[in-house]
Amino acid sequence: MIIANWKANGSLAANISWHKKLTQILPGNNFSDIGIASSNIHFIQIKKIFEKSNLKVGLQDIDFNGGARTGSVSASMASDAGCNFSLLGHSERRYLFNEDNTLIRTKIQAAISNRIKPILCIGESEECLEEKETRDFLKSQLIGALSGVELNKHAVIAYEPIWAIGSGNTPAPKDINLIHEFIKDVVQSTSANNIEPKVLYGGSVSHKNAEAFFDEKSIDGALVGGASLKASSFADIIKIYRKVKRK
Ligand code: 13P
Repeated sequence: MIIANWKANGSLAANISWHKKLTQILPGNNFSDIGIASSNIHFIQIKKIFEKSNLKVGLQDIDFNGGARTGSVSASMASDAGCNFSLLGHSERRYLFNEDNTLIRTKIQAAISNRIKPILCIGESEECLEEKETRDFLKSQLIGALSGVELNKHAVIAYEPIWAIGSGNTPAPKDINLIHEFIKDVVQSTSANNIEPKVLYGGSVSHKNAEAFFDEKSIDGALVGGASLKASSFADIIKIYRKVKRK
């Protein structure tokens, strides 16, 4: 699966042009391998413009509860509006909005009980990488967010090293593959029902480096930020994904 994380980008007019361009480059309506995590305000528009396709439309975050929580979108409201998935625990939510593993676990549980697929984002900082503590750190994020959680068989984790986001620097594809294998093992032994998740890679994915990532067995797809904002570069990444993974 290839997911666009638009972050706080987009406008009503730009979204229409993006859809037009994408569907010119990728004809047909079979978009089951594509997701868009739009902003909350554009979610309904994106649902509507892609209603004839099976593209998955999701959010970048959801709240675990509703009611007197000014500014929030609850999991049940998101589900009612047709939200297929939600990113949870993105590093920008963690460091800009002080989200911790306990809160993220509560959101994962709320997503699951509202039939929204949670996409748990994890990733180490540059300091952590330099101290060679990546695996311990990722394990603590996984255990903190998933222990006791009953995942369903479509569970997804996104591995996004913080230092790779928006920087143009990425780990070597072989190293990402090893980390993804590690994540699959940890999740299998941490979740309540021993599910092996799909693991997406995120962090400076572009049409130039995508093939090298998708060639790796345990890189199951990508979570794309900057390169998803331009429909043509996002479509190129999807074409590469389909070519490599359907071989
Ligand atoms: P970039 O692709 O811009 O590095 O962003 C990655 C990301 O944060 C996706 O969630």
